Amino acid sequence: MKKIAIFASGNGTNAQRIIEYFADHPVVKVDLVLSNNPDAFVLKRVTPYHIPTLVFTRDEFYHSSKILDILQERNIDFIVLAGFLWLIPGNLLEEYSDRIINIHPALLPKFGGKGMFGLRVHEAVLNSKQSKSGITIHLVNETYDDGQIIFQEQCDVEPSDTPESLAAKIHALEHEYYPVVIEALLHDPEEEDQ
Ligand code: GAR
Repeated sequence: MKKIAIFASGNGTNAQRIIEYFADHPVVKVDLVLSNNPDAFVLKRVTPYHIPTLVFTRDEFYHSSKILDILQERNIDFIVLAGFLWLIPGNLLEEYSDRIINIHPALLPKFGGKGMFGLRVHEAVLNSKQSKSGITIHLVNETYDDGQIIFQEQCDVEPSDTPESLAAKIHALEHEYYPVVIEALLHDPEEEDQ
C-alpha cells in the first residue's frame, strides 16, 4: 500500500476528489490531510471521510522537524499539494525527493510563480489574450511552480470567458486528471503480482 499525505490551504475540492477516488483503492491510501490554515474549508470538507487532519504553524513547518517526523511516523510515501500556498522546506524536499507533486491551474512555465494562484492566474491568462489554458502537474522543488512537468492538459479560452468561468473549466480538468496521474505515478506492477 502506498500512503499519500495531501497538503491544502483552502477550499479543498481537489483534496476531496482525490480522497474519493482512492477510497477502497487496492494500492493507494490517503492517510493524512495537512493545512497551514486552521480556517481552511478543506478541513471541514474531509471530515466525512474520517482521515486524520493536522494544522501546523509557519514556525513548525520551517523551523522544526515536526511535520517530517509525523510523515515518517505514518510511513507516508508520497506528498500531494492541492492548493497549498507555502513553499516546501528543504527537509521535506530532501526526504521526499521526486515524491512531492503540485497542480497548477495554467500551462506552466507561463502564469506561475509567487502570488500566482486562484483567480489571479485566470485573470492573467485572460489579460494576455491566450487562446488556450489548462492544468500542469509537476514535481515540487524549492521554487514556486518550477519543478519538472509531469502532465499537462489544455482547454480552450473563449472570448466570453471570465476568470470564474475559466476557473470552473480548469477545476473540472483538475478533478478529472489529478487522481489518475497520482495513481499512474504510484502504480507498481510488481506489487500487484504479489
Ligand atoms: C487549484 O485550482 C490549484 O490548481 C490551485 O489552487 C486551486 C485549489 O483548489 N493551485 C495553485 O494555484 C498553486 N499555485 P481547491 O482548493 O478547490 O482544490
